[in-house]
Amino acid sequence: MMAKIFIPYGTTEGQTAKIADYIADVIRHYGHEAELADLNESPDRIPDGYDGVIVGASIHMGEHNKRVVEFVQKNRDTLQRLPSAFFSVSLAAHGDTEEAEGYVEHLEEETAWRPARVGLFGGALLYTHYGFVKRHMMKRIARNKPGHLGTDLSRDYVYTEWDGVTRFAEDFLDYLAAGTATTSG
Ligand SMILES: Cc1cc2nc3c(=O)[nH]c(=O)nc-3n(C[C@H](O)[C@H](O)[C@H](O)COP(=O)(O)O)c2cc1C
Repeated sequence: MMAKIFIPYGTTEGQTAKIADYIADVIRHYGHEAELADLNESPDRIPDGYDGVIVGASIHMGEHNKRVVEFVQKNRDTLQRLPSAFFSVSLAAHGDTEEAEGYVEHLEEETAWRPARVGLFGGALLYTHYGFVKRHMMKRIARNKPGHLGTDLSRDYVYTEWDGVTRFAEDFLDYLAAGTATTSG
C-alpha cells in the first residue's frame, strides 16, 4: 500500500529543513509520497488525506521553535488520531542525550501530544553563517557543552548522523505498515 506522509517542520538556520528533506527522500525511496511544509510559511492546519505525520523542530536557547509548538497544539487531535512521529534537532543530541530528551519531554508537556516515535538528531554549528555576536556566543556554548563540539570559527560543523535519520524514517514506515495491517484485518 502506498502511504502519504506529511512532514511539517520549523527551522531557523536550515538544518531541520535538510533533515526533513532527507526523511522525505527515504520515504519516497520506498515508494510512498512525502509532502514537506516549512511552518514559517505554511498553513497552520494538517491538510486532509494523509496517512501519517512527522513533525520536526530545532532547539534554540533550550526551546523548540515556537511555530512548531503552536502547530502541534492546534493540530493535536489529528496528530493523536494519525500515526505520528517527532524529531528534535539540537547540539545536545550530539553529546548530552539526557538534555535532548528533556527538550522533548518539555514539548510533550506543553502540547499534551505523545508522538509514537521520537528521533533526536545532532544539529549544526554554522559559524561561517552566523553574525559576529551569534558566532562568539555559539563558540562559548560549544566549549562548555559535553560532546567535543568544534570551536574553529573559520568553518562549519554538522553533527547530524544521517544513518540514524534513515533508520528513524524506516522505523516509522514499519510502524505505519504494522498499524495498517492490524486495523484493516
Ligand atoms: C542562537 C542559537 C542557540 C542555540 N541553543 C541551543 C540550545 O540551547 N541547546 C542545544 O542543544 N542546541 C542549541 N543550538 C543548536 C541548534 O539546535 C542547531 O544549530 C540546529 O542545527 C539548528 O537547527 P535549524 O537550523 O533547523 O534551526 C542553538 C543554536 C543557535 C544558533
